[in-house]
Amino acid sequence: MRIEEKKLAEIVGELTLDKEQLREIACALRFDMELALQGREASMPMLCSYIGMPSGQESGEFLALDFGGTNLRAELIRLKGGSQYEIVRIVARPLVTEEYNLVNGSASREQVFDFIADMFAELLEGMEHSTYYLGHTFSFPSKQTDIYNARLLVWTKEFAIPGVEGEVVNDLLAEAFARKGLDNIRIAAVINDTVAELLAAGYCWPDTQIGSIYATGSNNCYMERSAYVNRPAAIINMESGSFDKLAPSRWDVMLDKTSEKPGRQRLEKMVSGRYMGELLSLIVQDLLGLPERPGFTAIDMSGIMSDDTAAAGAAGKIISGRIGALEPGEAACIRDVTEAIAIRSARLVAASYAGILWHLSGAGQIAPQHIAIDGSVYEYMPHIKENLQKGLYEVLGEEAAAVTPMLLKGGSGLGAAIAAAVASKEL
Ligand code: GLC
Repeated sequence: MRIEEKKLAEIVGELTLDKEQLREIACALRFDMELALQGREASMPMLCSYIGMPSGQESGEFLALDFGGTNLRAELIRLKGGSQYEIVRIVARPLVTEEYNLVNGSASREQVFDFIADMFAELLEGMEHSTYYLGHTFSFPSKQTDIYNARLLVWTKEFAIPGVEGEVVNDLLAEAFARKGLDNIRIAAVINDTVAELLAAGYCWPDTQIGSIYATGSNNCYMERSAYVNRPAAIINMESGSFDKLAPSRWDVMLDKTSEKPGRQRLEKMVSGRYMGELLSLIVQDLLGLPERPGFTAIDMSGIMSDDTAAAGAAGKIISGRIGALEPGEAACIRDVTEAIAIRSARLVAASYAGILWHLSGAGQIAPQHIAIDGSVYEYMPHIKENLQKGLYEVLGEEAAAVTPMLLKGGSGLGAAIAAAVASKEL
Protein backbone atom coordinates (compact mmCIF):
# COMPACT_ATOMS: atom_id res chain seq x y z
CA MET A 1 0.00 0.00 0.00
CA ARG A 2 1.27 3.47 -0.95
CA ILE A 3 -0.43 5.14 2.02
CA GLU A 4 1.47 5.58 5.28
CA GLU A 5 -0.77 5.11 8.30
CA LYS A 6 0.81 8.04 10.07
CA LYS A 7 0.17 10.41 7.18
CA LEU A 8 -3.45 9.25 6.94
CA ALA A 9 -3.98 9.84 10.66
CA GLU A 10 -2.47 13.31 10.34
CA ILE A 11 -4.79 14.21 7.46
CA VAL A 12 -7.90 12.95 9.23
CA GLY A 13 -6.73 14.80 12.36
CA GLU A 14 -6.35 18.04 10.40
CA LEU A 15 -9.93 17.64 9.11
CA THR A 16 -11.43 16.91 12.53
CA LEU A 17 -13.11 19.68 14.51
CA ASP A 18 -13.69 19.09 18.20
CA LYS A 19 -16.55 20.39 20.32
CA GLU A 20 -14.58 23.43 21.50
CA GLN A 21 -13.68 24.47 17.95
CA LEU A 22 -17.31 24.09 16.90
CA ARG A 23 -18.48 26.30 19.75
CA GLU A 24 -15.88 28.93 18.86
CA ILE A 25 -17.01 28.93 15.24
CA ALA A 26 -20.68 29.24 16.26
CA CYS A 27 -19.82 32.16 18.57
CA ALA A 28 -17.75 33.89 15.90
CA LEU A 29 -20.53 33.47 13.37
CA ARG A 30 -23.08 35.05 15.72
CA PHE A 31 -20.65 37.90 16.42
CA ASP A 32 -20.10 38.48 12.69
CA MET A 33 -23.87 38.44 12.03
CA GLU A 34 -24.44 41.09 14.65
CA LEU A 35 -21.55 43.26 13.40
CA ALA A 36 -22.99 43.19 9.88
CA LEU A 37 -26.50 43.99 11.15
CA GLN A 38 -25.08 47.10 12.82
CA GLY A 39 -23.57 48.13 9.49
CA ARG A 40 -20.02 47.27 10.57
CA GLU A 41 -17.30 45.37 8.69
CA ALA A 42 -17.97 41.59 8.70
CA SER A 43 -17.38 38.59 6.46
CA MET A 44 -21.10 37.99 5.79
CA PRO A 45 -23.14 40.71 4.06
CA MET A 46 -26.52 39.89 5.77
CA LEU A 47 -28.66 41.03 2.85
CA CYS A 48 -32.20 42.28 3.41
CA SER A 49 -34.77 40.47 1.27
CA TYR A 50 -37.66 42.94 1.69
CA ILE A 51 -40.12 40.16 2.48
CA GLY A 52 -41.38 38.60 5.72
CA MET A 53 -43.07 35.30 6.53
CA PRO A 54 -46.16 34.30 4.53
CA SER A 55 -49.62 33.89 6.10
CA GLY A 56 -50.23 30.51 4.47
CA GLN A 57 -53.38 31.97 2.89
CA GLU A 58 -51.70 33.22 -0.31
CA SER A 59 -53.56 31.89 -3.36
CA GLY A 60 -53.65 32.00 -7.15
CA GLU A 61 -51.49 30.75 -10.04
CA PHE A 62 -47.95 32.06 -10.26
CA LEU A 63 -44.82 31.46 -12.30
CA ALA A 64 -41.58 30.52 -10.60
CA LEU A 65 -38.04 30.60 -11.95
CA ASP A 66 -35.31 28.73 -10.11
CA PHE A 67 -31.87 29.96 -11.25
CA GLY A 68 -28.72 29.06 -9.37
CA GLY A 69 -28.46 25.32 -8.77
CA THR A 70 -27.59 22.53 -11.18
CA ASN A 71 -30.83 22.87 -13.15
CA LEU A 72 -32.89 25.78 -14.38
CA ARG A 73 -36.57 25.33 -13.56
CA ALA A 74 -39.60 27.18 -14.90
CA GLU A 75 -42.79 26.29 -13.04
CA LEU A 76 -46.44 27.20 -12.95
CA ILE A 77 -47.64 26.78 -9.37
CA ARG A 78 -51.15 26.97 -7.97
CA LEU A 79 -51.32 28.22 -4.38
CA LYS A 80 -54.58 27.08 -2.87
CA GLY A 81 -54.36 28.89 0.49
CA GLY A 82 -54.58 26.87 3.71
CA SER A 83 -50.94 25.78 3.18
CA GLN A 84 -51.88 23.74 0.08
CA TYR A 85 -50.30 24.02 -3.36
CA GLU A 86 -49.86 22.15 -6.60
CA ILE A 87 -47.24 22.27 -9.35
CA VAL A 88 -49.32 22.63 -12.52
CA ARG A 89 -46.51 22.54 -15.08
CA ILE A 90 -42.74 22.41 -15.01
CA VAL A 91 -39.92 22.73 -17.56
CA ALA A 92 -36.42 21.91 -16.27
CA ARG A 93 -33.06 21.98 -18.06
CA PRO A 94 -29.50 21.50 -16.82
CA LEU A 95 -27.20 24.51 -16.93
CA VAL A 96 -24.32 22.34 -18.11
CA THR A 97 -24.43 19.37 -20.49
CA GLU A 98 -21.95 17.75 -22.89
CA GLU A 99 -23.29 20.10 -25.61
CA TYR A 100 -23.42 23.43 -23.84
CA ASN A 101 -22.23 25.24 -20.73
CA LEU A 102 -24.27 28.24 -19.59
CA VAL A 103 -22.21 29.04 -16.49
CA ASN A 104 -18.53 29.15 -17.37
CA GLY A 105 -18.61 32.33 -19.44
CA SER A 106 -18.70 30.64 -22.86
CA ALA A 107 -22.33 31.78 -23.30
CA SER A 108 -23.18 35.50 -23.31
CA ARG A 109 -25.64 36.88 -20.77
CA GLU A 110 -28.21 37.37 -23.56
CA GLN A 111 -27.87 33.70 -24.52
CA VAL A 112 -28.40 32.61 -20.91
CA PHE A 113 -31.47 34.80 -20.32
CA ASP A 114 -32.89 33.91 -23.77
CA PHE A 115 -32.51 30.24 -22.85
CA ILE A 116 -34.60 30.91 -19.74
CA ALA A 117 -37.19 32.87 -21.75
CA ASP A 118 -37.49 29.93 -24.16
CA MET A 119 -38.23 27.66 -21.21
CA PHE A 120 -41.12 29.93 -20.19
CA ALA A 121 -42.39 30.05 -23.78
CA GLU A 122 -42.54 26.25 -23.66
CA LEU A 123 -44.14 26.25 -20.20
CA LEU A 124 -46.89 28.67 -21.24
CA GLU A 125 -47.64 27.14 -24.64
CA GLY A 126 -51.37 27.48 -25.27
CA MET A 127 -51.78 29.80 -22.28
CA GLU A 128 -50.57 33.01 -23.91
CA HIS A 129 -53.90 34.74 -23.26
CA SER A 130 -53.51 34.86 -19.45
CA THR A 131 -51.20 37.18 -17.55
CA TYR A 132 -49.00 35.73 -14.81
CA TYR A 133 -46.88 37.19 -12.05
CA LEU A 134 -43.47 35.60 -11.70
CA GLY A 135 -41.27 35.06 -8.66
CA HIS A 136 -37.58 34.64 -9.41
CA THR A 137 -35.39 32.57 -7.12
CA PHE A 138 -31.91 33.84 -7.94
CA SER A 139 -29.41 32.02 -5.74
CA PHE A 140 -26.49 34.43 -5.59
CA PRO A 141 -25.56 37.34 -3.33
CA SER A 142 -27.62 40.30 -4.46
CA LYS A 143 -28.05 43.77 -3.01
CA GLN A 144 -31.76 44.55 -2.93
CA THR A 145 -33.53 47.87 -2.60
CA ASP A 146 -37.01 46.36 -2.77
CA ILE A 147 -38.64 43.05 -3.61
CA TYR A 148 -38.05 43.53 -7.39
CA ASN A 149 -34.66 45.25 -7.57
CA ALA A 150 -31.69 43.05 -6.80
CA ARG A 151 -28.24 43.71 -8.19
CA LEU A 152 -25.88 40.76 -8.37
CA LEU A 153 -22.92 41.59 -6.13
CA VAL A 154 -20.62 38.79 -7.21
CA TRP A 155 -20.98 35.37 -8.82
CA THR A 156 -20.41 32.42 -6.48
CA LYS A 157 -20.27 28.62 -6.99
CA GLU A 158 -17.78 29.14 -9.90
CA PHE A 159 -20.41 30.83 -12.11
CA ALA A 160 -18.83 33.30 -14.54
CA ILE A 161 -21.54 34.58 -16.93
CA PRO A 162 -20.17 37.89 -18.24
CA GLY A 163 -21.90 41.25 -17.77
CA VAL A 164 -24.25 40.30 -14.94
CA GLU A 165 -22.33 41.38 -11.82
CA GLY A 166 -23.61 44.83 -10.79
CA GLU A 167 -26.77 44.52 -12.88
CA VAL A 168 -30.44 44.28 -11.83
CA VAL A 169 -31.06 40.64 -12.73
CA ASN A 170 -34.83 41.05 -13.14
CA ASP A 171 -34.22 43.72 -15.78
CA LEU A 172 -32.04 41.30 -17.76
CA LEU A 173 -34.79 38.70 -17.49
CA ALA A 174 -37.48 41.21 -18.51
CA GLU A 175 -35.41 42.18 -21.57
CA ALA A 176 -35.19 38.53 -22.61
CA PHE A 177 -38.97 38.09 -22.17
CA ALA A 178 -39.46 41.19 -24.35
CA ARG A 179 -37.10 39.81 -27.03
CA LYS A 180 -39.19 36.63 -27.10
CA GLY A 181 -42.53 38.48 -27.11
CA LEU A 182 -43.56 37.04 -23.72
CA ASP A 183 -45.53 40.11 -22.74
CA ASN A 184 -47.96 38.19 -20.53
CA ILE A 185 -45.31 37.69 -17.83
CA ARG A 186 -44.96 40.31 -15.07
CA ILE A 187 -41.86 39.84 -12.93
CA ALA A 188 -42.97 40.64 -9.39
CA ALA A 189 -40.23 39.48 -7.03
CA VAL A 190 -36.71 38.19 -6.69
CA ILE A 191 -35.48 36.16 -3.73
CA ASN A 192 -32.53 34.02 -2.74
CA ASP A 193 -33.05 30.22 -2.63
CA THR A 194 -32.63 30.18 1.16
CA VAL A 195 -35.39 32.81 1.42
CA ALA A 196 -37.57 30.73 -0.92
CA GLU A 197 -36.96 27.72 1.31
CA LEU A 198 -37.98 29.67 4.42
CA LEU A 199 -41.11 31.08 2.74
CA ALA A 200 -42.05 27.57 1.60
CA ALA A 201 -41.48 26.24 5.11
CA GLY A 202 -43.49 29.10 6.60
CA TYR A 203 -46.37 28.01 4.36
CA CYS A 204 -46.25 24.49 5.88
CA TRP A 205 -44.56 24.72 9.34
CA PRO A 206 -45.16 28.22 10.73
CA ASP A 207 -42.66 27.82 13.59
CA THR A 208 -39.71 27.79 11.13
CA GLN A 209 -37.28 30.71 11.42
CA ILE A 210 -34.26 29.44 9.50
CA GLY A 211 -34.09 28.41 5.83
CA SER A 212 -31.02 26.63 4.60
CA ILE A 213 -29.56 25.32 1.37
CA TYR A 214 -27.02 22.54 1.65
CA ALA A 215 -26.23 21.61 -1.95
CA THR A 216 -23.92 22.85 -4.73
CA GLY A 217 -23.67 25.95 -2.55
CA SER A 218 -24.26 26.50 1.15
CA ASN A 219 -26.18 29.38 2.68
CA ASN A 220 -28.70 30.26 5.40
CA CYS A 221 -31.37 32.88 5.95
CA TYR A 222 -33.57 33.63 8.94
CA MET A 223 -36.47 35.84 9.95
CA GLU A 224 -35.10 38.97 11.64
CA ARG A 225 -37.89 40.49 13.69
CA SER A 226 -36.05 43.53 14.99
CA ALA A 227 -35.25 46.47 12.75
CA TYR A 228 -31.52 47.20 12.59
CA VAL A 229 -29.74 50.24 11.15
CA ASN A 230 -31.52 51.17 7.88
CA ARG A 231 -33.21 47.79 7.66
CA PRO A 232 -36.86 46.88 7.98
CA ALA A 233 -37.77 43.69 9.89
CA ALA A 234 -37.49 41.06 7.15
CA ILE A 235 -35.91 37.79 6.17
CA ILE A 236 -32.14 38.20 5.99
CA ASN A 237 -30.15 36.32 3.37
CA MET A 238 -26.94 35.88 5.34
CA GLU A 239 -24.67 34.61 2.54
CA SER A 240 -23.20 32.52 5.33
CA GLY A 241 -21.06 30.74 2.74
CA SER A 242 -18.84 33.80 2.88
CA PHE A 243 -18.19 33.46 6.64
CA ASP A 244 -14.42 33.25 7.15
CA LYS A 245 -13.57 32.94 10.88
CA LEU A 246 -12.60 29.32 10.37
CA ALA A 247 -9.62 27.03 10.76
CA PRO A 248 -8.90 25.99 7.17
CA SER A 249 -6.64 23.04 6.42
CA ARG A 250 -3.75 23.18 3.91
CA TRP A 251 -6.06 21.81 1.23
CA ASP A 252 -8.76 24.39 1.89
CA VAL A 253 -6.15 27.06 1.33
CA MET A 254 -4.98 25.38 -1.88
CA LEU A 255 -8.53 24.95 -3.20
CA ASP A 256 -9.32 28.58 -2.50
CA LYS A 257 -6.21 29.82 -4.35
CA THR A 258 -7.11 28.02 -7.57
CA SER A 259 -10.84 28.87 -7.44
CA GLU A 260 -12.67 31.41 -9.62
CA LYS A 261 -12.85 33.90 -6.69
CA PRO A 262 -9.92 33.41 -4.26
CA GLY A 263 -10.50 34.70 -0.73
CA ARG A 264 -14.28 34.54 -1.03
CA GLN A 265 -16.88 32.01 0.14
CA ARG A 266 -14.48 30.36 2.57
CA LEU A 267 -17.13 28.46 4.55
CA GLU A 268 -18.89 27.38 1.36
CA LYS A 269 -15.60 26.05 -0.01
CA MET A 270 -15.26 23.83 3.08
CA VAL A 271 -18.79 22.45 3.14
CA SER A 272 -20.69 22.51 -0.13
CA GLY A 273 -21.20 19.94 -2.87
CA ARG A 274 -19.47 22.09 -5.47
CA TYR A 275 -16.19 21.89 -3.55
CA MET A 276 -16.08 18.78 -1.37
CA GLY A 277 -15.08 16.53 -4.28
CA GLU A 278 -12.26 18.91 -5.15
CA LEU A 279 -11.01 18.79 -1.58
CA LEU A 280 -10.96 15.02 -1.72
CA SER A 281 -9.09 15.20 -5.04
CA LEU A 282 -6.41 17.47 -3.58
CA ILE A 283 -5.92 15.26 -0.55
CA VAL A 284 -5.79 12.00 -2.51
CA GLN A 285 -3.28 13.54 -4.91
CA ASP A 286 -1.13 14.44 -1.92
CA LEU A 287 -1.64 11.13 -0.12
CA LEU A 288 -0.69 8.98 -3.12
CA GLY A 289 1.75 11.40 -4.73
CA LEU A 290 -0.27 11.45 -7.97
CA PRO A 291 1.01 13.62 -10.85
CA GLU A 292 -2.48 14.87 -11.74
CA ARG A 293 -5.35 16.07 -9.57
CA PRO A 294 -8.16 13.47 -9.79
CA GLY A 295 -11.66 14.68 -10.59
CA PHE A 296 -13.72 13.39 -7.63
CA THR A 297 -17.21 14.82 -7.25
CA ALA A 298 -19.63 14.99 -4.32
CA ILE A 299 -21.60 12.20 -6.04
CA ASP A 300 -18.46 10.01 -5.99
CA MET A 301 -18.12 10.79 -2.30
CA SER A 302 -21.68 9.65 -1.61
CA GLY A 303 -21.00 6.43 -3.53
CA ILE A 304 -17.74 5.80 -1.67
CA MET A 305 -19.38 6.30 1.72
CA SER A 306 -22.42 4.17 0.86
CA ASP A 307 -20.09 1.16 0.95
CA ASP A 308 -19.60 0.34 4.63
CA THR A 309 -17.96 -3.06 4.13
CA ALA A 310 -14.48 -3.61 5.58
CA ALA A 311 -13.08 -4.57 2.17
CA ALA A 312 -14.50 -1.40 0.55
CA GLY A 313 -14.87 -3.16 -2.81
CA ALA A 314 -17.63 -0.96 -4.24
CA ALA A 315 -15.90 2.17 -2.94
CA GLY A 316 -12.68 0.95 -4.57
CA LYS A 317 -14.41 0.71 -7.96
CA ILE A 318 -15.49 4.36 -7.79
CA ILE A 319 -12.04 5.48 -6.67
CA SER A 320 -10.13 3.47 -9.27
CA GLY A 321 -12.49 4.88 -11.91
CA ARG A 322 -10.86 8.24 -11.14
CA ILE A 323 -7.25 7.33 -10.32
CA GLY A 324 -6.58 3.89 -11.79
CA ALA A 325 -5.72 0.61 -10.06
CA LEU A 326 -5.51 0.59 -6.26
CA GLU A 327 -3.37 -1.51 -3.98
CA PRO A 328 -5.05 -3.55 -1.21
CA GLY A 329 -6.18 -1.43 1.73
CA GLU A 330 -6.05 1.88 -0.15
CA ALA A 331 -9.78 2.13 -0.86
CA ALA A 332 -10.65 1.94 2.85
CA CYS A 333 -8.08 4.67 3.64
CA ILE A 334 -9.50 6.97 0.96
CA ARG A 335 -12.97 6.29 2.33
CA ASP A 336 -11.71 7.46 5.76
CA VAL A 337 -10.61 10.76 4.22
CA THR A 338 -13.93 11.08 2.38
CA GLU A 339 -15.80 10.58 5.65
CA ALA A 340 -13.65 13.11 7.45
CA ILE A 341 -14.48 15.74 4.79
CA ALA A 342 -18.23 14.98 4.95
CA ILE A 343 -18.36 14.92 8.75
CA ARG A 344 -16.47 18.21 9.00
CA SER A 345 -18.92 19.71 6.52
CA ALA A 346 -21.96 18.62 8.57
CA ARG A 347 -20.40 19.87 11.82
CA LEU A 348 -19.58 23.27 10.31
CA VAL A 349 -23.13 23.64 9.02
CA ALA A 350 -24.41 22.67 12.50
CA ALA A 351 -22.18 25.38 14.03
CA SER A 352 -23.64 27.91 11.60
CA TYR A 353 -27.20 26.96 12.70
CA ALA A 354 -26.16 27.23 16.35
CA GLY A 355 -24.81 30.76 15.80
CA ILE A 356 -28.11 31.83 14.22
CA LEU A 357 -30.18 30.15 16.96
CA TRP A 358 -28.17 32.02 19.61
CA HIS A 359 -28.78 35.29 17.79
CA LEU A 360 -32.51 34.53 17.59
CA SER A 361 -32.87 33.53 21.23
CA GLY A 362 -30.71 36.34 22.65
CA ALA A 363 -30.47 35.88 26.40
CA GLY A 364 -33.48 33.51 26.46
CA GLN A 365 -34.09 29.86 25.66
CA ILE A 366 -34.08 28.54 22.10
CA ALA A 367 -37.72 28.35 20.98
CA PRO A 368 -39.08 25.05 19.60
CA GLN A 369 -38.76 25.21 15.83
CA HIS A 370 -38.00 23.50 12.55
CA ILE A 371 -34.99 24.37 10.41
CA ALA A 372 -35.98 23.93 6.77
CA ILE A 373 -33.17 22.48 4.68
CA ASP A 374 -33.06 21.66 0.99
CA GLY A 375 -30.24 20.34 -1.12
CA SER A 376 -28.61 17.26 -2.50
CA VAL A 377 -25.86 17.10 0.12
CA TYR A 378 -28.33 17.11 2.99
CA GLU A 379 -30.72 14.78 1.22
CA TYR A 380 -28.36 12.17 -0.17
CA MET A 381 -24.87 12.25 1.31
CA PRO A 382 -24.24 9.53 3.91
CA HIS A 383 -23.24 10.68 7.44
CA ILE A 384 -24.51 14.24 6.94
CA LYS A 385 -27.84 14.18 8.79
CA GLU A 386 -26.55 12.34 11.90
CA ASN A 387 -23.43 14.45 12.18
CA LEU A 388 -25.37 17.66 11.78
CA GLN A 389 -27.66 16.59 14.61
CA LYS A 390 -24.69 15.51 16.74
CA GLY A 391 -22.91 18.79 16.09
CA LEU A 392 -26.00 20.74 17.20
CA TYR A 393 -26.08 18.81 20.49
CA GLU A 394 -22.37 19.37 21.05
CA VAL A 395 -22.71 23.12 20.62
CA LEU A 396 -26.15 23.72 22.17
CA GLY A 397 -26.34 20.93 24.74
CA GLU A 398 -29.85 19.90 25.78
CA GLU A 399 -31.32 23.01 24.14
CA ALA A 400 -30.76 21.29 20.81
CA ALA A 401 -33.84 19.17 21.61
CA ALA A 402 -36.01 22.20 20.72
CA VAL A 403 -34.68 22.22 17.16
CA THR A 404 -35.84 19.88 14.39
CA PRO A 405 -33.87 20.04 11.13
CA MET A 406 -36.17 18.91 8.30
CA LEU A 407 -35.70 18.25 4.62
CA LEU A 408 -38.14 20.38 2.62
CA LYS A 409 -37.81 19.75 -1.08
CA GLY A 410 -38.85 22.07 -3.88
CA GLY A 411 -38.76 25.20 -1.72
CA SER A 412 -37.16 27.26 -4.50
CA GLY A 413 -40.24 26.99 -6.72
CA LEU A 414 -42.88 27.18 -4.01
CA GLY A 415 -41.10 30.08 -2.28
CA ALA A 416 -40.86 32.01 -5.56
CA ALA A 417 -44.60 31.55 -6.14
CA ILE A 418 -45.35 32.77 -2.60
CA ALA A 419 -43.07 35.80 -3.09
CA ALA A 420 -44.88 36.59 -6.36
CA ALA A 421 -48.23 36.30 -4.54
CA VAL A 422 -47.13 38.63 -1.75
CA ALA A 423 -45.46 41.16 -4.09
CA SER A 424 -48.21 41.24 -6.72
CA LYS A 425 -50.69 42.44 -4.09
CA GLU A 426 -48.64 45.60 -3.82
CA LEU A 427 -48.43 46.21 -7.58
C1 GLC B 1 -24.13 30.37 -2.84
C2 GLC B 1 -24.83 31.68 -3.16
C3 GLC B 1 -26.04 31.85 -2.28
C4 GLC B 1 -26.95 30.64 -2.37
C5 GLC B 1 -26.16 29.37 -2.07
C6 GLC B 1 -27.00 28.12 -2.23
O1 GLC B 1 -23.65 30.43 -1.54
O2 GLC B 1 -23.93 32.75 -2.99
O3 GLC B 1 -26.76 33.01 -2.65
O4 GLC B 1 -28.01 30.77 -1.47
O5 GLC B 1 -25.05 29.28 -2.94
O6 GLC B 1 -27.48 27.96 -3.52
